[in-house]
Amino acid sequence: MTQIPASSDAPNMGRRQFMNLLTFGTATGVALGALYPVVKYFIPPSSGESGSGVTAKDKLGKPIAASDFRDNHKAGDRVLSQGIKGDPTYVIVKDNGELSGFGLNAICTHLGCVVPWKESDNKFVCPCHGSQYNENGKVVRGPAPRSLALVHTQTSNDGNIVFTPWKETDFRTDKEPWWT
Ligand code: FES
Repeated sequence: MTQIPASSDAPNMGRRQFMNLLTFGTATGVALGALYPVVKYFIPPSSGESGSGVTAKDKLGKPIAASDFRDNHKAGDRVLSQGIKGDPTYVIVKDNGELSGFGLNAICTHLGCVVPWKESDNKFVCPCHGSQYNENGKVVRGPAPRSLALVHTQTSNDGNIVFTPWKETDFRTDKEPWWT
């Protein structure tokens, strides 16, 4: 049996580990470099609509004209439309027949069902697990942990209803908005 003499020139363990580090370090670098664009590819592109606001659309995707909307709805109505990021959003008619300056994102803060307006009770009542929100979308019964998210409602120059993000204090709780 041949034995390597103790005084051999073969690299010792420390050198082998150094070479391992060099080789696998480089390989890891290449792998990460290749992985980065792949991970980025799977993250959906941003819609770029958060700052400017979006036109409210009806269920067929048509912009909603404010004057038509007022003519066709009565005071106190809360009507679903497509809002920011396509979320179902309530447009509210005030008691004087004018459009309210705020709209409500209809997605229940518990597990995300769309919450219907129950006019007879003057409340939003979630059909999934029974959470309730008052006429301004403030949570009044759980299991939903938070109130419905607010948006600003305005009329654009061409007469359509427009939603813009609500970044100010939540007037129902006097707290910072949880949705921004
Ligand atoms: S999703 Fe609305 S109460 Fe559970």
